[in-house]
Amino acid sequence: MKALVFQGPGKTSWQEVPDPGIKDASDAVVRVDSVTICGTDLHIIKGDVPEVAPGTVLGHEAVGEVVEVGSEVRTVRPGDRVLVSCISACGRCRFCRENHYGQCREGGGWVLGHLIDGTQAEFVRVPFADLSVHPLPGSVESDDAVLLADIFPTAYEVGVLNGRVSPGDTVVVVGAGPIGLATVAAARLYTPGKIIAVDLAESRLAAARSVGADATVGAGEEPEELVSDLTDGLGADVVVEAVGVPEAFETCTRMVRPGGRVANVGVHGKPASLHLEDLWIKDVTITTGLVDTYSTPLLLRMMAAGRLPSAELVTHHFKLEQMEEAYDVFSRAADTGALKVVLGGPRHDVVTLPA
Ligand SMILES: NC(=O)c1ccc[n+]([C@@H]2O[C@H](COP(=O)([O-])OP(=O)(O)OC[C@H]3O[C@@H](n4cnc5c(N)ncnc54)[C@H](O)[C@@H]3O)[C@@H](O)[C@H]2O)c1
Ligand SMILES: [Zn+2]
Ligand SMILES: [Zn+2]
Repeated sequence: MKALVFQGPGKTSWQEVPDPGIKDASDAVVRVDSVTICGTDLHIIKGDVPEVAPGTVLGHEAVGEVVEVGSEVRTVRPGDRVLVSCISACGRCRFCRENHYGQCREGGGWVLGHLIDGTQAEFVRVPFADLSVHPLPGSVESDDAVLLADIFPTAYEVGVLNGRVSPGDTVVVVGAGPIGLATVAAARLYTPGKIIAVDLAESRLAAARSVGADATVGAGEEPEELVSDLTDGLGADVVVEAVGVPEAFETCTRMVRPGGRVANVGVHGKPASLHLEDLWIKDVTITTGLVDTYSTPLLLRMMAAGRLPSAELVTHHFKLEQMEEAYDVFSRAADTGALKVVLGGPRHDVVTLPA
């Protein structure tokens, strides 16, 4: 099959690799029908995630059809259309039993496109299939469902729930990439007072307004001053870092009010300064987190009910073999206006009922 292989910092190639097969009795092999690229993949290529070994197939978000299952798999069978979650879960270790799938100690957690071959390929082997793939109802399109593999659970769990967004809150989301935009959309479910989005790219600020941000500001246009003005000088109740660079995290800690929450979502490859000399007196809570994806079934029901934006978040479609072009467009988002780029296309049979 063909797959996108990481070749070390700055290098990837779309190339022929061996087809994956069942290795463990709990595995499933999924034919990839829709797959997307994450900001985290860009961090990997930059060299920010050094545990990704050269030769690894990238990608941790997909929708596809199960083609083969191991003897222990009970919840899916060949022919099922499934969401491949970015997190795999053994279901048995201490962390999995507490819904902390991201921290699985028995070979799960974030492994796809990180420690084992991922989804940016024609086929992918998914370990612990029972808990790591989700059968999809016919009413949810593959291009929408693929947003539930990572961006919505991440935004919801690591941004909104960790940040304890509550009715009436002023919420600032720093970084309006797909994760920041999904955070804006998920925060709205809690009827905050206002949501302010911060980014460097005007196209992304426009997207933030379209998914429900009340105010937007360029990262270079004194966002701290705007937040201060909009909160009578207090600062925001919740600030979500959805970038993954030290400056963005440090801005977040300057924008939060006393007693407020900073929820870090960004993947950081460099140390950020924690200004405890300013923060110690402010009763501030700072959370970090890798997504667990325990909320995926809930988010899937919300998407089926039309409660989550999806069309606004997918800007580009490519064929699977246009992977390198898709990466180019996604990595130049400020010029191309790209948000989520989806590759492949729905291959399941469309059932048309007689009129
Ligand atoms: N914690 C998790 O489990 C988890 C899961 C998925 C993704 N992530 C991380 O979340 C982050 C966002 O992901 P994404 O896919 O939206 O990435 P992305 O690269 O598409 O978006 C990042 C956005 O930040 C903006 N930006 C850059 N520097 C900025 C600054 N100084 N101030 C404000 N905005 C700035 C960029 O213009 C861009 O729009 C990444 O770091 C990604 O690795 C974390
Ligand atoms: Zn991701
Ligand atoms: Zn586990």
